[in-house]
Amino acid sequence: MAQKMIAVYGVREGSGKTVVARELAGAYQLRGKKTLLVDMVLGGGQIAGSLGLSPEPNLGQWLQEMDRQMNEDLPPFALRFSPEEVAPFIQHHYTGLDVLAASPLDFPGRAAGMVEVVITHLRPLSHEVIIFDTRSVVREYVLRLLSLVDTVLLVTDSYRYHLEYAAGVLERLREAGVTTDHFQLVLNRMPTLTDESPREAARQLGLPLAGVLPELPAMQPGRNNRTLSYELVDHFTRSINQLVERLE
Ligand SMILES: Nc1ncnc2c1ncn2[C@@H]1O[C@H](COP(=O)(O)OP(=O)(O)OP(=O)(O)O)[C@@H](O)[C@H]1O
Ligand SMILES: [Mg+2]
Repeated sequence: MAQKMIAVYGVREGSGKTVVARELAGAYQLRGKKTLLVDMVLGGGQIAGSLGLSPEPNLGQWLQEMDRQMNEDLPPFALRFSPEEVAPFIQHHYTGLDVLAASPLDFPGRAAGMVEVVITHLRPLSHEVIIFDTRSVVREYVLRLLSLVDTVLLVTDSYRYHLEYAAGVLERLREAGVTTDHFQLVLNRMPTLTDESPREAARQLGLPLAGVLPELPAMQPGRNNRTLSYELVDHFTRSINQLVERLE
């Protein structure tokens, strides 16, 4: 039973990374896969809050311990944590999903090394799927994460407008030394009739198309009082399930 590590990256802030990471993790968990959702947005992510979990324990407590050991001149590759030492940083959602909440602290200069330590020590855990929420920035620690996982989902929103932008993002990542062979495209929100087909968009970007997600009105701030039609939820759920199936 191979473990799958998936990072959810996006072409820009607000493209839907957190929604995709959270819903994908939920879908895997519902299918009976032991799943860990990791909030890799250093300096404050939104996963724990959006799942009704508390901010602590979190990744930051683990990173602080790494920081302490690195202050004693230990290089990142020399740090060792047993699964028993990692477990207390992980929270458990009532659905069975495990969550490593965000670190409220960033660790500039050390974050990339720390990410490598995190990934090395999550690999031996019994989780079948590990999903990382990320930030749409070109920073060393994010690039390291994207290079170390098995699959990167590139989330692109409102679609045609951002297609060229998405191509630019991919180009910048490649210039920064990230190979993109393991990247797949997720179009968040259905294209309008005037847009090109999702398949065509993926072809232009040179990425496999992992999925197309519809608009989910209830998830927009300020629209929470709106009654959501069952079909919309169902459509969204179906689309997420199709995404999981393509990733199998
Ligand atoms: N398919 C969707 N339908 C409706 N609303 C959505 C959808 N996807 C995302 N949103 C909404 O858009 C906003 C941005 O989404 P989200 O927080 O997932 O993006 P993000 O890429 O993680 O942003 P950031 O870069 O700030 O972390 C949120 O309010 C979210 O609820
Ligand atoms: Mg986010």
